[in-house]
Amino acid sequence: MKIKSFYATFFMVFAVIVLAGCGIQEDLNNIINADLPKKNDDFGQEDDYYEKFYKEVAKRSHIKKGTSDIKALDGLPKDPSGNVNWTAAVVNGYISPRGSLDPAAQDDLPLNLNIFIEAKVPLMANVMFPHSIHTYWLSCNNCHPKIFIPEAGANPISMDEIFKGQWCGRCHGKVAFTFWPRENCVRCHIVLKGQSLERESYK
Ligand code: HEC
Ligand code: HEC
Ligand code: HEC
Repeated sequence: MKIKSFYATFFMVFAVIVLAGCGIQEDLNNIINADLPKKNDDFGQEDDYYEKFYKEVAKRSHIKKGTSDIKALDGLPKDPSGNVNWTAAVVNGYISPRGSLDPAAQDDLPLNLNIFIEAKVPLMANVMFPHSIHTYWLSCNNCHPKIFIPEAGANPISMDEIFKGQWCGRCHGKVAFTFWPRENCVRCHIVLKGQSLERESYK
């Protein structure tokens, strides 16, 4: 193991323990108890899951007037980092942007496809990647095949590389919602260990 990756691993494990200690597990429990279907219920049935997911994402945002210098952004829901929560803005109907400047262009429907990505350490909640909200804003070729091979599990994604701007970090932390504070971790790490219907290797 190279000394650098040793430190990276050490940092991640440390971060997990600190975050767990700080109550990330409680945040997640609140979220899951509030709205997501219970284990072995209908969790994993795509349509149901999306409804709950969107409701939850939308509920978590708050409008804080006077928090943005840009007038047009002031009335939009914000996330815990103080930035606009664009998912909530769309889901709650604050905005409804056109798909194209060309009024005749046909708008493709978002792709309803959730990808489960296990966080490969104990404790840290697993990731659910929703194609729907991404393909609402983006085209397939923004991500495939250059950032992600379109095959579940085919990409060796790690948080360390995400923090350095690879994978999800190509957008998140730059133009899409950012990592901190820890309430934002939960937007990706939304499925508690043992709460998915997938076979999990890290408990
Ligand atoms: C934009 C989505 C996203 C956000 C935000 C995010 N993560 Fe991750 N995280 C991932 C993905 C994807 C993985 C890859 C899962 C795997 O293979 O381990 C991951 C993996 C991890 C892992 C497993 C170990 C590793 O290095 O892969 C840890 C620990 C982790 N994240 C911590 C965090 C913390 C702490 C935060 C908040 C500061 C956070 N994550 C925010 C997407 C995200
Ligand atoms: C924001 C990035 C992004 C966009 C945009 C995107 N995808 Fe994906 N796609 C992913 C990720 C991440 C995965 C999972 C890769 C992994 O697990 O390693 C994935 C996986 C897939 C898979 C594999 C599913 C499986 O079960 O193996 C298919 C098929 C796919 N995408 C099709 C599409 C299509 C079609 C579009 C456009 C309508 C699209 N994707 C747009 C990021 C994206
Ligand atoms: C090509 C750019 C791009 C990439 C790559 C990307 N995202 Fe996103 N993601 C977005 C945009 C844009 C949104 C809409 C919300 C926003 O702008 O903050 C979004 C929204 C989301 C949401 C919706 C939940 C919420 O609270 O808004 C989740 C979850 C998410 N991304 C996870 C991921 C994960 C996990 C990966 C990597 C596997 C990833 N994203 C890679 C651009 C991207």
